[in-house]
Amino acid sequence: MFVDRKEELDILEKKFMEKQFHFFPIYGRRRVGKTELIKQFIKDKKAIYFLATSGSKRENIERFKEAAKEIIDISFVTESWREIFEYLSKHLEEKTIIVIDEFPYLVETEKGLSSIFQYIVDMYLSNTNNFLILCGSSLGMMYKEVLGYRAPLYGRRTGQLEISPLSFKESAGFFKDKKIREKIEIYSICGGVPAYLKEFMENKNIFTLIKEKILSKGSPLLEEIPFILRQEFREPKTYMSILSAISLGNRNLGKIVNYCGFQSKTGIMPYLYNLENLGYIKRELPVTEKPRSKRGLYFISDNYFDFWFKFIRRNMSLIEIDIRKAL
Ligand SMILES: Nc1ncnc2c1ncn2[C@@H]1O[C@H](COP(=O)(O)OP(=O)(O)O)[C@@H](O)[C@H]1O
Ligand SMILES: [Mg+2]
Repeated sequence: MFVDRKEELDILEKKFMEKQFHFFPIYGRRRVGKTELIKQFIKDKKAIYFLATSGSKRENIERFKEAAKEIIDISFVTESWREIFEYLSKHLEEKTIIVIDEFPYLVETEKGLSSIFQYIVDMYLSNTNNFLILCGSSLGMMYKEVLGYRAPLYGRRTGQLEISPLSFKESAGFFKDKKIREKIEIYSICGGVPAYLKEFMENKNIFTLIKEKILSKGSPLLEEIPFILRQEFREPKTYMSILSAISLGNRNLGKIVNYCGFQSKTGIMPYLYNLENLGYIKRELPVTEKPRSKRGLYFISDNYFDFWFKFIRRNMSLIEIDIRKAL
C-alpha cells in the first residue's frame, strides 16, 4: 500500500524525462517515507538502489557491487568509489538511476568521502544522462556534507526534495474504513509520519491500539524518541532534557535554561536552533518582536514527540522502560 506523495513523484518524473544529468539530494526526518518514495520512483526504471550502512568502506563497496549486479557487472573494478563511478559513467548504456540511501552512513566510512563524490559528479557523471540520488535522514549530516554552502557537494545539485510528514488529509489515506473521529485521534498522536500511522491501521479501538502498539514493552514506538535523538545528535541527553522541559510547560528561554541547568541563555541556543531546524520544536514570537528576539515561546511541533513526552516519558516507571538505558 502506498499513500499519495504525488507532488514529489511528479517532480522526480519530470526531471527524469530530461536528457541531462541530475543530482537530487533527498532528505527528511527518519520514518517520513523517503525510502518508500524512492522505491516507488525507481519501480519499472533502470536503477541501482544501494542502502549504505555503518560498516566498513570495503563492506559498503562490496554491497554496492552486489546491488548493481542486475544492471551491470562491476565485480572486477577496484575497491574505490572513483573507479567504480568512472566505470559506470562509461559503461552504463541506458539512463540509470543510482541511489545511495542513508548517505550519511557512507560519509563515516572514509575521510573526505563527500569530496570524492564531488569529484565523481564533476568528472564522471555530469556529462552523462544518469540520475544520482543521495538520500539521508540525519539532517545535520546532510547539511554539512551535501546541502550547506560549505559542503563539498554544494552547487552540484540540479534539484532537491525535502520529504515532510503527510498532511491530515493525506494521512487519512491509511484509514479508509475508520470514522473521522478515529482519524483525528490517530493523527493527533502520530502526526503525518507514515511509519507511525501504519501501526494504527488495524480495526481496533484507539485504546487497544495505544496499548498494543506503543505501551507494550519492546514495541518500536515506545523507544522511538530516544532512538531518533541518539541517531541525530551527539548529546542526546541534553536534547532529551530540553524537550522534557518544554513538554512540562517551560515555554520561555529563561525557564528552559533553568530546568536544564544551563549556565547561560547563549549556551542553549545552538540546541534549540537544531531542534527547531529539524522540525521537532517551534518558536512563536509576539508580533511586536524582531525575529532574532530571545522572547519567543517554545512548543513541541511534532505530534508524536509531543505525545511521547506528555504521556510516555512521565510514566516511564509504570511502563517499566529505563530511559537511561534507552539513551
Ligand atoms: N507514502 C507511504 N504510503 C504508505 N506507507 C508508507 C509511505 N511512506 C512510508 N511508508 C511506510 O512507513 C515506513 C517508513 O518509511 P521509510 O520510507 O522507510 O522512511 P524513511 O526512509 O524516511 O526513514 C515504512 O514501513 C514504509 O513502508
Ligand atoms: Mg530510509
